[in-house]
Amino acid sequence: MLKAKLIHESPQLKLGESPIWRDGLLYYVDILNGKIYSYGENITQLHTDSIIPFIVPCDDGLIFATKDSIKHLILKSGKVETIFKMKFDEIVRFNDGKCDMNGVLFAGTMDMNEKDPLGSLYRFDNKESKVLDRITISNGTIWNYDKKIMYYIDSPTRKIRVFNYDNRNSAILDEMESIDVSVFPGVPDGMTIDSMGNLYVAFHGGSSVIVFDSNGKVIKKIYVSAKNVDSCVFGGDDLKTLYITTAMDENGDGGNLYKIKNEISGIPSEKYKFI
Ligand code: BGC
Ligand code: CA
Repeated sequence: MLKAKLIHESPQLKLGESPIWRDGLLYYVDILNGKIYSYGENITQLHTDSIIPFIVPCDDGLIFATKDSIKHLILKSGKVETIFKMKFDEIVRFNDGKCDMNGVLFAGTMDMNEKDPLGSLYRFDNKESKVLDRITISNGTIWNYDKKIMYYIDSPTRKIRVFNYDNRNSAILDEMESIDVSVFPGVPDGMTIDSMGNLYVAFHGGSSVIVFDSNGKVIKKIYVSAKNVDSCVFGGDDLKTLYITTAMDENGDGGNLYKIKNEISGIPSEKYKFI
C-alpha cells in the first residue's frame, strides 16, 4: 500500500478540512477551532471568532463559511465582508463547499449531531437556491468537466452519488447509479479528482485516501497515519502533489497534514466568481 508522508504537525488542530491550492500556496481550515492555515514556507493563522467549515479561493483572497454565513476575505488588507447570510436550525451548520468551473459555489450543511437528514446542498451565484435535500453530512462535491458529471457525498450513506451536470448553466441534472463504498472502513468525506477523471476519496475513520476510477473500481489505496482522514486536494506547480488533511480522533491523535506525489495531475481549485 502507498503511504502518505507527514509534512506538518499541528497538535492543536481538531478538524482539518477544505484544502485548496491558490497561487502557489496550500490553504486549509481547522473547522472547530475556526482557523485558516496557509502552508508554504511556513504556516500562518488567521483567527476568527466562529467555526470555519470551508474555504474556496477567489481572485483577491478567500471565500469562507461560518456556521450560517458565507464571507469574503481580502488577503492583502484582511478585510472581511458577508456575502450570504442563511437561516438554519440551531443544530445545522455549513460543512464542505466548492466552486464549479463557472465559479458558482456549491455548499452543503450538516446535522451537528451527525444523525438526521437535516442538511441540504445549496448553490450560490447572485442568490442562493437549495439543490439537494435530506442530507445528514454534506461532503465531497467535485466535477468531471469532460464527462459533465458531478459527484457528491452524504458521508453516513457511504455512497458517492453521481449526477449528470449541465456545465453551461451550473445545474444538476438527473441522478445516475451511486458508487457504493460501504465495504471500506470509515465513511467517505472530502474528495478530489484528477485530470483522467479518477476520484480521490478521504475516509474519515478509515486511515486512507482510496482512488476509484469513474466506474467505482479501486485503482489504489493510500495509507495515512491518522484515523480520521478528512479531505484532499491537488497542488504544486504541476498539480501532481496530493495534500491530505486529517482530524483529531477520540484519543487526541491526528490533525496533521500529509502529502503524496501522484503520476497523474489533478484539477485546479476553482475560484469563486462575483457576478
Ligand atoms: C464533518 C465532520 C464529520 C465528518 C465525518 C466532516 O466533513 O465536518 O463533522 O465528523 O465529516 O463524516
Ligand atoms: Ca468534509
